[in-house]
Amino acid sequence: MRILFCGDVVARSGRDVIQKYIPHLKKAWALDSVIVNGENAQHGLGLSEKVCDALYKAGVDVITTGNHVWDCKGMFSYIEKDPRVIRPINFMNTVPGKGFFVHDTPKGAILVLNAMGQVFMSPQLDNAFPILSDFLKVYPLGRNKIKAIIVDFHAEATAEKIALGYHLDGTVSLVVGTHTHVPTNDARLLDKGTAFLTDAGMCGDYRSIIGFPCDDEALAARYLKKVPLANKPEPPQGEGTLCGVFLETNDQTGLATRVHSVRLGANFSEVCPDDLPCRGGG
Ligand SMILES: [Fe+2]
Ligand SMILES: [Fe+2]
Repeated sequence: MRILFCGDVVARSGRDVIQKYIPHLKKAWALDSVIVNGENAQHGLGLSEKVCDALYKAGVDVITTGNHVWDCKGMFSYIEKDPRVIRPINFMNTVPGKGFFVHDTPKGAILVLNAMGQVFMSPQLDNAFPILSDFLKVYPLGRNKIKAIIVDFHAEATAEKIALGYHLDGTVSLVVGTHTHVPTNDARLLDKGTAFLTDAGMCGDYRSIIGFPCDDEALAARYLKKVPLANKPEPPQGEGTLCGVFLETNDQTGLATRVHSVRLGANFSEVCPDDLPCRGGG
């Protein structure tokens, strides 16, 4: 299987880079699935039916979320009718939506899981480690036609994310962190065959402070005076960058054979697998 996972899509700049690159990458890289974290896709905070439709239209197959999942009105009902949008699995069972989705592809099923960390995170959910490992005992790689398992671990602390990578090593195809909006440079294969990346980064305008304004007024209010901004901060809407991770898995074992960071767009030097074309018509 070939899978692309993209980090938190932030506002219009993030949606624009998804629309610009994904249709080309999906074909040129023969991707079986494209997964994005959409928790900031609607104006930086939350997501909506309209935004999800735009992401699907670009070729996105599954949308994960995190602490901002409920920021837009209407998500409680929307998430119940669209199973492709998932919320962290460690919310209580009675909370709307699900923490997993099975993407059926012509080559087999891809199970996508979403969980949230506990270190420096709000809200404080139950411990994801036993919840995920218990779930994976019921839905292991290789059974129920599951050819690959992707875990989006939405967490702040690098150590907590790395720890989950080792905790799940050998039982899933990829553990990828989201939430910090900053891409880390540590994509690697762990010893038992799980691919790992501490944080995928954001899809959005990096001339910002993780998607929020970086102008003098915003800096002074938030970081010098420690007071609220006079007006609600507007997410910067300059040209963005797509940040994520490319994964290739073994169809027999479901484990990873290759993992590579992807960074395409205005803000960083281009990073993508050497043998794959990064630019197409878009
Ligand atoms: Fe985010
Ligand atoms: Fe988040």
